Amino acid sequence: MNKSLKLSLVLISILLFSCSKQLDWQTTVASPDDNVKVEFKLTEEGEPTYLVTYKNKEVIKTSTLGGFDLKDMASIKDNFEITNATTSNFSEVWEMPWGEQTKVENNYKELKIELQEKADLKRKLTIVFRVYNDGLGFRYAFPEQENLSEVLITDENTQFNLTGNHTVWWAPGDWDIYEHLYNTTKFTEIDALSKVNYPNIAQSYIPQNAVNTPVTMKTSEGLYLSFHEASLVDYSEMTLKIDKENLAMNSELVGSERTGYKVKRAVPFHTPWRTLQIAKKAGDLIESKLIVNLNEPNKLSDISWFKPTKYTGIWWELHLGKSTWGMASGKHGATTVNTKAFIDFSAKNNIGAVLVEGWNNGWDPNEGGFDYVTPYPDYDIKEVVRYGKEKGVEIIMHHETFGNVENYIKQQDTAYALMQSLGIHSVKTGYVGKLMPKGEYHHGQFMVNHYNNTIEKAAKYQVAINAHEPIKDTGLRRTYPNTISREGLRGQEYNAWDSQGGNPPEYLSIVAFTRMLAGPIDYTPGIFDIKFDKWKKDNQVNTTIAQQLALYVVIYGPVQMAADLMENYEGNPAFQFIKDVGVDWQTTKVLNGEIGDFVTIARKQKKSENWFVGGITDENAREMELKFDFLSPDTTYEAIIYEDGKDAHWNENPTAINIRKMEISNKSNLKVKLAPGGGFAISIIKK
Ligand code: NOJ
Ligand code: CA
Repeated sequence: MNKSLKLSLVLISILLFSCSKQLDWQTTVASPDDNVKVEFKLTEEGEPTYLVTYKNKEVIKTSTLGGFDLKDMASIKDNFEITNATTSNFSEVWEMPWGEQTKVENNYKELKIELQEKADLKRKLTIVFRVYNDGLGFRYAFPEQENLSEVLITDENTQFNLTGNHTVWWAPGDWDIYEHLYNTTKFTEIDALSKVNYPNIAQSYIPQNAVNTPVTMKTSEGLYLSFHEASLVDYSEMTLKIDKENLAMNSELVGSERTGYKVKRAVPFHTPWRTLQIAKKAGDLIESKLIVNLNEPNKLSDISWFKPTKYTGIWWELHLGKSTWGMASGKHGATTVNTKAFIDFSAKNNIGAVLVEGWNNGWDPNEGGFDYVTPYPDYDIKEVVRYGKEKGVEIIMHHETFGNVENYIKQQDTAYALMQSLGIHSVKTGYVGKLMPKGEYHHGQFMVNHYNNTIEKAAKYQVAINAHEPIKDTGLRRTYPNTISREGLRGQEYNAWDSQGGNPPEYLSIVAFTRMLAGPIDYTPGIFDIKFDKWKKDNQVNTTIAQQLALYVVIYGPVQMAADLMENYEGNPAFQFIKDVGVDWQTTKVLNGEIGDFVTIARKQKKSENWFVGGITDENAREMELKFDFLSPDTTYEAIIYEDGKDAHWNENPTAINIRKMEISNKSNLKVKLAPGGGFAISIIKK
């Protein structure tokens, strides 16, 4: 062989080698600790798939990333080839302006797969995976391209192929409301359609056997999984359709009866993240910060005008029927006099704000709908704000829409401008009932955009939003920290009037591992008059008083209501806990928990050495042994323990409470007994 032939052979083989190398893309990625792994593959038909393992065992079997069905155009789903694949690492620590903790670690490895159709329109689609120690997120991006400038998506077909018939804590995939009870069943026993026509729900649409997210599961090997989405922006919510035969879930986007498609977007854009949290202990799901980590950093420069706070207000009395929102009954609640009484009470008890519902024109029929600037004649808004300022208590604004979003949109600027001129910095919004515009659902793209536009608009007026009948939380509080709290579950008010008996004793021990993984909750705890027979003989709260205290710690929210009537707090020594408890935290630790059974959480107050602990149980009594090893060493604290009294029981004896004090350190242990439907709360104050 002559020299030049040899050289060209070598060159050719190098070329061949590098070509084949180029086609051999790296399509796997692992979490920083190597426990969570994702493998991406194209099928022979060029359809994208993924598989997830945890400690080398499958948690999601090969599942199709089944692409997008489009209106007036062929689906984008297969016949793809990979045109590029890249991996990268990311690591940062960011600060929450308010939250369950101050510092958040955000460490992940990313895999980005760029795909292009091999024929016809040669459309492009990119899939990005971010893999964390506590789970993963992935999303689709439509990059800028020649043959696609806009898409009308009629569905997104993402599959989650499960490895077994897991135990599932689920609520139906309702397109209009989240105010359903959670159900505990095997995957194959999920039956969302049995929840159609569920009583006492103001609006509801459950088109098929699908669940809403977060949906949480436990495998037979004891691994916990929770499916949700992050950063839901300009898109419609994802519900998960149940495929019992294949033990799989498939994404089903919420639609619209107005438009004939589910999502309309101009290209380029990307979808929300589809997320899976993975944990060995149930409590780790609560500590996971995956959902906020998958959101963009803070876009609001200054949020110092919003301060986490406890609040009282004209609310529970409305649900009990002691007073009314409108004036026609002659029992109007939101009067200047009543509001001032709440201001005095709050000022006296270390509570920073008062919510006033029913202050504005429009609650009674014949008033021509809501007006967000005109107070009823017996409510002097300027005077209550002035009086509150004098006492150091803020007023919380209230904007109910009764679903008439068009009417609200028209008035938002004037309404927020009024708030700004008065120095009111937060509003509870409400969307009870069927929507106007007709044909839209609370969880579709139109409303997602409305809720998000509201956040952005309100921020311009230094207004924070606590939405009721909201879109679910997907962690946008990281980007817009004026997204302070929301409902999005059956709140305490169901206990005041639900014909099905209210929220059962196990309810919140499921909520902590499902709804709460999405973000802050405005549950409005603190009902002391558990049976309220004076107002309603047939309704009651289904917990003990000690559990009501525990909820200030267990159920996280930066605004926490002391919801009961003032007269029910006066003179009750248990009220001391509500006075003392923090609302903004430096650290959160889940001390124990099993979904639907019990959970105990300890939180350290921000800029303080004080800790608060709350524990709740379901309908079963339990004994717990607590260790305080999370406390600072060589420090003495005074613990005030509020526990279920002897023979306490959510139904038979709900108000029996025992309060004791002891000195503790990080070496102390404590035994507590929880009654059926009970709980305990502890304030730990540094001496
Ligand atoms: C439903 C909300 O959840 C509740 O808190 C409020 O009082 C009513 N709507 C009236 O706006
Ligand atoms: Ca509600």
